Amino acid sequence: MMNFPIPRLDKNTEVRNCLLKYSRLKEGKVWYDPIGKHRIGCLDAANMADVRKLMDGEKAVLAIQDPPYNLVAFEEREQCDFIQWCKKWIATTEFALAVNGSLYVWLGADQKDGFQPLPDFMIMMRDTPFQTRSFITMRNQRGYGTAGNWMAVRQELLYYIKGDPVFNVDAEYTDIPKILRGYYKEVNGQVTENFERSKSENIRAGNVWVDIQQVFYRMEENVNGCYAQKPLKSAERIIRASSNEGNLIIDFFCHSASTLISAEMNKRRCYTMDSDPVYCEVAIRRLERFRQTGKAGWQNGNPFEREILSDPELKSLAGEIPSVVEDNQLSLF
Ligand SMILES: C[S@@+](CC[C@H](N)C(=O)[O-])C[C@H]1O[C@@H](n2cnc3c(N)ncnc32)[C@H](O)[C@@H]1O
Repeated sequence: MMNFPIPRLDKNTEVRNCLLKYSRLKEGKVWYDPIGKHRIGCLDAANMADVRKLMDGEKAVLAIQDPPYNLVAFEEREQCDFIQWCKKWIATTEFALAVNGSLYVWLGADQKDGFQPLPDFMIMMRDTPFQTRSFITMRNQRGYGTAGNWMAVRQELLYYIKGDPVFNVDAEYTDIPKILRGYYKEVNGQVTENFERSKSENIRAGNVWVDIQQVFYRMEENVNGCYAQKPLKSAERIIRASSNEGNLIIDFFCHSASTLISAEMNKRRCYTMDSDPVYCEVAIRRLERFRQTGKAGWQNGNPFEREILSDPELKSLAGEIPSVVEDNQLSLF
């Protein structure tokens, strides 16, 4: 197996800056899929003119938004500035969604700081046209805060709607076996428990997802260089539940392009953007690679392998890369 990592691009700005020259998109530009399905913009999620440019009059049925969380891993802004900024991209999301649409937002909750930004975000959302539908928790394998505290192993996912959007219940079935008994119901005068009553061996996901593997370098879908990659399985669960084949999905914080790749796999269309041209290039390359090879990522290789070998400047920076593959997940510790 090739061991050819690239450092997390948020941590190694020299490598990131060097990769700019290989990025096809410049700020303000949109990449149009040659087969007409998807779009990737190097645009600002909070800017209405940028969102109009990406959408060009079309409306989506589903938005999956995964903004920077304002936690330690990102450049920290004042809490209220962060919420004001969220308000802006929520307005652009609302604009880009059809009358009947679903919105899923991944957000962090810092247990050392009033669980922020989650509570202030929830309050801000009360003044928008979106209604609350579910508060989903996804369990991570790795966590933080083991010494003297309950280990934080959760990722929060808020599900909002406007109008009356599609929800496919079938998509909610998982491969999780039933593990808990429960005397839930009386049937013909007899108390029956769920093992006797239900036809399925497995449980529905509900709003606690414990069956989704966090991405790490041994997985084919891994994209080295990224620091906040969401698993394809999580994107797929949302997409199958809240859209149908052929529908348009949006994701304004593309990064490694998990939503885009999952949309491609599930026969949906995706219009996505990232303000950083390097992640836009990663997204284009990930889609091209998937179409050419059927592979969803680079495992412990990386999207710029060819350039690292042929560009002396990049090669010298890449030479300093440790041979140990870094974990590309958002590090909160
Ligand atoms: C948490 S990551 C998204 C991870 C993504 N869901 C995935 O699975 O790879 C957030 C991304 O948003 C981008 N970003 C930050 N501010 C932005 C803005 N104003 N408009 C568009 N993208 C932005 C960052 O460059 C980063 O790539």
